[in-house]
Parts: sequence; structure tokens; C-alpha cells
Amino acid sequence: MNTQMEGKICIVTGATNGIGEVTAQALANMGATVVGVGRNPAKCTETANRIKSATGNPAVEFLVADLSLQSHVRNLAEVIKRKCAHIDVLVNNAGSFYATHQITGEGIEMTWALNHLNYFLLTNLLLDVIKASAPARIVNVSSGAHTGAREINFADTGFATGYSGWSAYSHSKLANVLFTFELARRLEGSGVTANVLHPGFVATGFGANNGGLLGVGMKVAQRIMARSPEKGAETNIYLASSPEVEGVTGKYFTDKHELKASPAAYDLEAAKRLWALSEEQTKITQSA
Ligand SMILES: NC(=O)c1ccc[n+]([C@@H]2O[C@H](COP(=O)([O-])OP(=O)(O)OC[C@H]3O[C@@H](n4cnc5c(N)ncnc54)[C@H](OP(=O)(O)O)[C@@H]3O)[C@@H](O)[C@H]2O)c1
Repeated sequence: MNTQMEGKICIVTGATNGIGEVTAQALANMGATVVGVGRNPAKCTETANRIKSATGNPAVEFLVADLSLQSHVRNLAEVIKRKCAHIDVLVNNAGSFYATHQITGEGIEMTWALNHLNYFLLTNLLLDVIKASAPARIVNVSSGAHTGAREINFADTGFATGYSGWSAYSHSKLANVLFTFELARRLEGSGVTANVLHPGFVATGFGANNGGLLGVGMKVAQRIMARSPEKGAETNIYLASSPEVEGVTGKYFTDKHELKASPAAYDLEAAKRLWALSEEQTKITQSA
């Protein structure tokens, strides 16, 4: 364990598996207090215990929330605010791919609810504490798949008509980039940075929830082509902790380098419209 992040409090969502788990462990290994978020209580306990014993850092706690549900995100934000005097890093990482059209218990299409609205709502609910903790960092995990979406489908964000898993996924990942760039503009001068990244194709649990041929196909492709979760988490860890990116904001990264996102990600009007729509869809009264 080193001390690079000692005194910092880092929140990592989707920290019970894959890229998020490696990120949480790396930050704990740098001496940070880590609050991981997962949806499975037993997995949360196991992961917290494993990270504590692997790093020797006792300041690791996991909170349980189904981030596809706004009621859970609101409750999670309240618990985090009660527990954390400051928030130095927020890594919005929990995300998934849904081959079939699914609706949450709150009536929102699952991909949009988990991959975009969760990032938007959790960030905005924690933002007063994050701003008060400046310098602070927000890191959003998107994907190179965002280039597959030409624009935000404002009329039908959940693809009630013509759903395909890949269309919904790339669309949600374009939303991650537009959201991050708009957030960075709104946070200018606050000392809080917001960056977004593509982790590469990574061998994780990604896609496994779909089972069947797709689940098997994904596993085979991961075995042949994907990088390790350790490699996949490098850019998360870099953006969350490296002095090299102190003050850098509103950028898209892969492999610890800034890269151009797709042209659609730089559409200022779309970013503003997405923000307004996300406020409506999350019924948030105060956002950045
Ligand atoms: N893997 C890739 O090739 C790849 C490529 C580009 C981008 N990404 C992005 O990377 C991020 C992390 O994915 P990963 O590859 O590490 O996948 P993963 O191994 O499936 O991990 C996803 C994490 O999110 C959690 N999660 C899923 N649904 C949730 C929910 N409803 N509420 C709370 N937590 C939930 C999972 O919990 P459980 O442990 O309970 O499953 C797990 O901790 C995602 O945003 C994904 O879009 C991945």
C-alpha cells in the first residue's frame, strides 16, 4: 500500500466486479477511503473483505443499491452524504448491456436507467458535497461503442419502438460522453473536473447477464480478444488519482490518453437538451 490517495474519499459504483472492482482495489491500495457500490449484498461484503485483506487498508466499505432504480440512487446518495464528510472522487462505472427490451420497476427502459440516468442522478445528488471538497474529480465510464450512436433519440430514449441491445447500449454511452462534457462546462471554475473514458474491450462479467448464445459468444470473444480487468481499469485509476490530470476536464480518454470522441459528442445543443430531459426524467430539483 502507498499513500498517494491518503485522506481522499473515493466512491466507485459497480465495484463488485470487473473494471470497478479493480479500480476500487487500486484506490484502496493508494491509501484512499473507498466506498464501493454494488447491488448484491453478499458480493458487496465479500468484495469489501477481499480488498481490505489484499491491500491492508481497513477503510473500505460497500453500500448496496440497484442503480437502475432512482429510489435506490436517492437513498444511496443520502447514505453517502451521512457517512462522508467530503467526496474527492466519484467514479460512475456501473453499467450493463441488455439484449432484450426490459423495463425497471419504475417504468424506465433498463439500459437508459442504469447506464445514463444513474450517472446523471447520483452525480447531481452528490454535487454539493463534491464541490465543497474541491479539488475533486468525477470520472464517467463510457465506451468506444458511443460512436455507434449518431444522436440522442430524444423522442424515445428507451427505444420502445425498434429496440436493439447494441443501439440502446451505444446510445446510452453517447449520453455518458455528452453528459460529461456538459457537466465539465457547468463546473468550470469550481475546482471539480469531469472526464469520460473508454476502457477498451475487457474480459469482465459484461454481457453475462444475457445468457444464451449472446452470453456464450461474449465469453468466447473476451477469451480471444479482450484485455484483463487490470489493464481495462488503468484509465479509471489514472483519471481518479494521477497528478498528471490535475485540473484537466471535459475530455475523453482511452489508455490514459486524450482522444477525440465521436462528432455527436460535441453537439452543444444536444448536450443541453439531454441535460434538461434527464432533469425531467429524474425529477431532480437542483442540478449543476
Ligand atoms: N467490458 C468491456 O469490454 C467494456 C467496454 C467498454 C465499456 N465498458 C463499461 O465498463 C463499465 C464496467 O463494466 P464491466 O465490464 O466491468 O462489467 P461487469 O464486470 O459486468 O461489472 C459491472 C458492475 O456493475 C454492477 N451492476 C450491474 N448492474 C447494476 C445495478 N443495476 N445496480 C448496481 N450495480 C450494478 C455489477 O454488479 P454485479 O457484480 O452484481 O454483477 C458490477 O459490479 C460499464 O459501464 C461498461 O459499460 C465495458
